[in-house]
Amino acid sequence: MERMRRLRQNEALRSLVRETEISTTDLIYPMFVIEGENIKEPVESMPGIYQWSIDRIDEELDRVVNAGILGILLFGIPAHKDECGSEAYDDNGVTQRCIRHIKEKYPELLVISDICLCEYTSHGHCGLIKDGVILNDETLPLLAEASLSVVKAGADMVAPSDMMDGRIGYIRNYLDENGYKNTPIMAYSAKIASAFYGPFRDAAHSAPQFGDRKSYQMDPANGREAVRECLADIDEGADIIMVKPALAYLDILKEVREITDMPLCTYNVSGEYAMVKAAAQNGWIDEKRIVMEEMTAMKRAGAKIIITYHAIDVANWIS
Ligand code: PBG
Repeated sequence: MERMRRLRQNEALRSLVRETEISTTDLIYPMFVIEGENIKEPVESMPGIYQWSIDRIDEELDRVVNAGILGILLFGIPAHKDECGSEAYDDNGVTQRCIRHIKEKYPELLVISDICLCEYTSHGHCGLIKDGVILNDETLPLLAEASLSVVKAGADMVAPSDMMDGRIGYIRNYLDENGYKNTPIMAYSAKIASAFYGPFRDAAHSAPQFGDRKSYQMDPANGREAVRECLADIDEGADIIMVKPALAYLDILKEVREITDMPLCTYNVSGEYAMVKAAAQNGWIDEKRIVMEEMTAMKRAGAKIIITYHAIDVANWIS
């Protein structure tokens, strides 16, 4: 008989043969910066998560740094939105000013800037619109301009989340031409049109004002197409590949892990966080064990990097 239980007898033995471990260095913490002063506005559907104004964001950044987390993913929420998302590529936009502030105060902290238009456009879509159609090629220069603008402000990495075709190559060229050959791109490569983003759209004020994102984000049903998306982004010059959301798409993560040696990231999104928090607040689940089990699942499936709203908690639990 194979006695599997021999190595399960005590924690020392279990630790010795444990195949997957979570490290603080795996974690990226998403943060929301909003225009205004003295703001720490709770996101109702995401307990523990806030929109911060620049003058108060250090309260949260101190928690990040003290927990030993290496990087944040920054989302900006401007006061003024327009048809073409001008503030996304305004050198004095809220995101750019926040990045300058962070790099001055916390020079070691990795600042990854999300690149998209949806938080900045009045219609809430991730690209320019003409006659109700989300334009692809016309949107690329704006995404490139937004990327250059945040990189000039000091961002260490850009993470395009818009899902326009060809944007990774376009942004790569533009950064290269402007002297930023060494700035890495983390591509939201396989990004699904998912209901799991619901709470984020409250947090970032980015819900589309008409229609949905199905003409640019992926169909949840398509695992093989998700692999093609990843291969396309690798081909265009991405440095890190992302699958998003995480938990309902671990099969895709695993498949991508098998076909490439690129660093892999997954985004444990707002809806996944909200569900855990809601159940935990009701006393229905053990939050810490559930979260650690989820983290382990994401790593076991192949992610090295995990973007998660639980990052500070996880870092504190494992330290
Ligand atoms: C912007 C963007 C979204 C998320 C990250 N970048 C929302 C969307 O595509 O609608 C979702 C993150 C989350 O749900 O936590 N395009």
